Amino acid sequence: MTAPLLIRGPLDVPGPEMADHLGAHGALPVVDLHGLVERAALTGRGGAGFPTAAKLRSVAAAAAATGRAPVVVANGSEGEPAAAKDAVLLVRAPHLVFDGLALAAAAVGATSAYLAADPALLPGLARLLGDRGDRLGVRLRPVAGTFLAGEESALCAALDGKAPLPRSKFPPVRERGVDGRPTLVLNVETLARLALVARGNDAAASSLLVTRRMEIAGTSWVDVVDVALSSRLGDVLRLGDGVQAVLIGGYAGTWVEAGRAAHLTLDPVGLAQADAALGAGVLAALPADRCGLRETARVVGYLAAQSAGQCGPCLNGLPRIAAALDVLARPTPPPSGLLADVHRWSGLLPGRGACSHPDSSVRLVASALRVFEPELALHRTGRCTARTAQPFLPVPGSTR
Ligand SMILES: Cc1cc2nc3c(=O)[nH]c(=O)nc-3n(C[C@H](O)[C@H](O)[C@H](O)COP(=O)(O)O)c2cc1C
Ligand code: SF4
Repeated sequence: MTAPLLIRGPLDVPGPEMADHLGAHGALPVVDLHGLVERAALTGRGGAGFPTAAKLRSVAAAAAATGRAPVVVANGSEGEPAAAKDAVLLVRAPHLVFDGLALAAAAVGATSAYLAADPALLPGLARLLGDRGDRLGVRLRPVAGTFLAGEESALCAALDGKAPLPRSKFPPVRERGVDGRPTLVLNVETLARLALVARGNDAAASSLLVTRRMEIAGTSWVDVVDVALSSRLGDVLRLGDGVQAVLIGGYAGTWVEAGRAAHLTLDPVGLAQADAALGAGVLAALPADRCGLRETARVVGYLAAQSAGQCGPCLNGLPRIAAALDVLARPTPPPSGLLADVHRWSGLLPGRGACSHPDSSVRLVASALRVFEPELALHRTGRCTARTAQPFLPVPGSTR
């Protein structure tokens, strides 16, 4: 479970000053970033796990083809309500993110860069940025704080002064993003890892920041740890009798039974065995005294409300599924055919939206109906295993 530590010491200690950063990591070297990132096999930590070297190459190629200087964007939006790793990183090790931005910009020939993050973090970041004296002028921008605002096309739209909504995947932002320029959007953790890889620390590419959510002795616990991708999930989270299932990847993720989850390794191949992926790096251990269907219904209600309603699946499908799930989450016999309807509607959504929001939402629903099948059966008889109605997963604006 130990890994090269990106997050060191108690998480409430303010981020290191430039002198601390240089003392810990040394000066930023001049390197062939493309080759190093390719060799280290670094993948994105913003959700999709896309190879970073391929992104660098495609943005550089788009810039060469169009003759327009590209833009680099550090994505610190962290729209996922269950995640905290990007905010913790920006407080604990912001200079690694700034280093990564400078390196990525140099690698693709960008002359302008943005870092988008929670408005509360920006004053501290502005001061630290001022201490660096970088030639690259990084512009700090606040994010909208919605689930969709961190999707790359939504973020580029916001940086252009438009509504923070996803748009069609074509042309991709790597060809036409901010100001119509080829745009490289990388998650802040990816950039921090890139800064470590550039310093010869290849192991930085094989660990990741995880936001852990669990209950210890009836008290909610949330922290951020840096763990090796080869770690067993059972060594990262306490998965004793008091845990029934793990939400892997966050609200665009998948429920897995606790007993099965314990044996999975965190690398993409290990998690794929349970049709899971690390997404935004969330691991949430659902206590045995909660109703998994109720928790999922709250989350899916939130996801349906967050969708921009610009595309059919989000306008018609997601709200219907959320409403049906809300009924199935109650300990009363549901109207006949409702479960079959949810499965049928879910099958109609994937691949039909401008972004992957409906696809991941119905994947979450399918995993809940599979993992909490015994709970569904109990609800049909008017019963529920939950011993408390206290919400476990955080849903902005909800107390149900
Ligand atoms: C609905 C949705 C929300 C997203 N929210 C975030 C986010 O909050 N932060 C983030 O870094 N990436 C988010 N992404 C992924 C970005 O679109 C993009 O792929 C990512 O920032 C690229 O960085 P990476 O290659 O370093 O992973 C989201 C994607 C989708 C579909
Ligand atoms: S699929 Fe949904 S969330 Fe994505 S752009 Fe269309 S309406 Fe918005």
